[in-house]
Amino acid sequence: MESINVIPAVECLELTGSRLCLKTPLLITVMEDEFTSVATLLAEYLDPLTLRPRIELGSTSHVGDVIFLQQDDLAAEAYGLEINEEYIQITASDSRGAFYAVQTLRQLLFQNHSETGDFKLPTLLINDCARLRYRGMHLDVSRHFFDVSFIKKYIDLLALHKMNVFHWHLTDDAGWRIEIERYPQLVDVGSVRSGTVVGFTLDVEAKSDEAVYQGYYSQQDVQEIVAYAAQRHITVVPEIDIPGHASAMLAAYPELGCTGAPSEVKVYFGNFDDVLCPSQASFEFLTNVLTEVATLFPGPYIHIGGDEVKTTRWQHCHSCLGLMKEHDFSEFSQLQSYFMRQVGSIVTSLGKTAIAWDDVIDEQIDPNMTIMSWLCKDQAIGAVQAGHDVIMTPMEHAYFDFYQSHCLDEPPAIHGLTRLQDVYQFDPLESFPDPDHQSRILGGQGNLWTEYVKDPDTAERMVLPRMSALAEVLWTSKSNQSWSDFCRRLPGFEGLLHRLDYVTANSHYKPHLVAEQTSPGRFIVAIESLANTLVYTLDGSTPTVDSNHYEQPLLIDTTTTVRATSVLNDQKLLGDARLTLVNHLALGQSVQFAHLNDAEATLAEQTLLNGQISHDRIFYHPEWIAFVGIDMDAIISFDRPTLISSITLGFDAGAHRNLHRPSGITIMIPDTNNGWLQVASMDQQTIDRCNSAITLGLAPQRLSTLRVVAHNKKSAWSVELEAIGPVTLYIDEIIVH
Ligand code: ACM
Ligand code: ZN
Repeated sequence: MESINVIPAVECLELTGSRLCLKTPLLITVMEDEFTSVATLLAEYLDPLTLRPRIELGSTSHVGDVIFLQQDDLAAEAYGLEINEEYIQITASDSRGAFYAVQTLRQLLFQNHSETGDFKLPTLLINDCARLRYRGMHLDVSRHFFDVSFIKKYIDLLALHKMNVFHWHLTDDAGWRIEIERYPQLVDVGSVRSGTVVGFTLDVEAKSDEAVYQGYYSQQDVQEIVAYAAQRHITVVPEIDIPGHASAMLAAYPELGCTGAPSEVKVYFGNFDDVLCPSQASFEFLTNVLTEVATLFPGPYIHIGGDEVKTTRWQHCHSCLGLMKEHDFSEFSQLQSYFMRQVGSIVTSLGKTAIAWDDVIDEQIDPNMTIMSWLCKDQAIGAVQAGHDVIMTPMEHAYFDFYQSHCLDEPPAIHGLTRLQDVYQFDPLESFPDPDHQSRILGGQGNLWTEYVKDPDTAERMVLPRMSALAEVLWTSKSNQSWSDFCRRLPGFEGLLHRLDYVTANSHYKPHLVAEQTSPGRFIVAIESLANTLVYTLDGSTPTVDSNHYEQPLLIDTTTTVRATSVLNDQKLLGDARLTLVNHLALGQSVQFAHLNDAEATLAEQTLLNGQISHDRIFYHPEWIAFVGIDMDAIISFDRPTLISSITLGFDAGAHRNLHRPSGITIMIPDTNNGWLQVASMDQQTIDRCNSAITLGLAPQRLSTLRVVAHNKKSAWSVELEAIGPVTLYIDEIIVH
């Protein structure tokens, strides 16, 4: 049985059992001139395949090898693709549908191209259409700059995936990247920074490489890119991020800030206090900037950011405080909402629809503003209920700057884990059962923030193949989505991506370890991977091809480090997955935490007494409890007197954490006066000599209650805050032996 490997999966496919052998030169006939530009792109795609395509405008059908035919009753973006023994026929109501037919045909041609240069295509009938109308990919060009040729290559990738929006994040703290004629300093000053952080901003010892970094797009570059995208039926949405993430703008025009003090294009990545002041000068400036932007970008949208706005400067600004009084605002968030309303109406007056991140949602925001939701489902639900159109970009499914695997050999990325499966499980409609609400969900988008994405190869590796999964979720109807079938089609599609010179990640072929504690100290461990063969060890040694083959979940009841590796078809090993499970005395016992509310305490119990340690892994937030500016103060109650001789705490959450060790540890037991008696302690100097976990020994004794306090340093200098700020103490497990 012939298999068809198209991504995103097509809606309706019938294989008709025969074959079409294509001849060269290939004649492409367009029955309506409207299809000429799509036919030209098809010819370009086929050029490397030695088919020597030629295009002509036909008057009757059946004259060429590929025929483009208009069919008015097909929906926008829908198409028909027929391959019979004589020819290929593409039908669509307009050139968009025809363009998507070409993307499907392109995949079929690449897959059916023999070494000898013959094309034998299976005969078939395909009817296909889009599930959602907004299918986007974002690229941050501020933190790192990507040149025009890469932007075109990125747009080509969107086209191949039948995506139709390129969200171009053009401005941020680390660089302003679009020429605005009226304000030349935006690029003269705002597109240049004095260096880039080495490692991660949140490393305690973060410093700059002190190498000047710059880049921007001239208006001519922008026009070239917009035209290139339009030819591929892709709308470009420019983002001018205000009033936060505006350091580059403020470096160029400090008078737009509250203090007027000079600032700089940021070398570190984060969220900064310097934001635009909601002054007449700012609104006039933004009117002029957005007027040029609106002229450069013919699409319907301008994204105006609105994310992660700090109100620190506003709180001390005479003009801001005056505005608060004038409008009777009691919260600074109302000033943020006022700012977004003002800029939203500038965008409306330019004949465009404003998009903003869902940080801005409140009842004051104009319902005509489209909301892009990254924060959480509740924000998106609130936005829909308030009458906004919404684009879903939830972090857990659609942030392609996050790690793709938990293996230790995974290349560095920003904190967070978005595995290929997590992307495939994304359903932009899932939180909106009401059909009226569903119709407000325009679609979804994948975001590539580039703090730690320095070059084109890394950018491609971060989005591929996660955007392939995303494309299927957005294009293919829910009932035709299937993770296992996607995995079957993926290797063929990856082959095409490699032939088109894209770099793809191999993270989904690495092993992923998942453990569950079934009863105190007993664990069941599953190993997941797209690789067929997995090997593992339980003695801490590095797995080899001769190690145990994984066949079914493992039962573990003693302290064990599970290590797993994938064996690929060429017998090469891939992936260093590790998970250490500890069977210790506090498992299944009750614990109380000072300083935490009930929900926090429940989460802390589930995390700190689950028998899984995380200080030997890549940081993943759910595996840690973060005590922000407070001590970890835990009282463990044992169900019977238990012989105890040591306590171990893991504190090293790894890269990309502003890591501070505890400043001291105290172990206590109840004394006879309802107070506490210290039985062990460790000071800062001794803790500083520990690697990633700290062990304190006690004189062995039978205990019913044990109090463990890890003291937090409370405050320290933060490069992100550019000030002294609260210290976060990370703990992964309270191990009691
Ligand atoms: C965002 O990730 N700050 C929208
Ligand atoms: Zn101000």
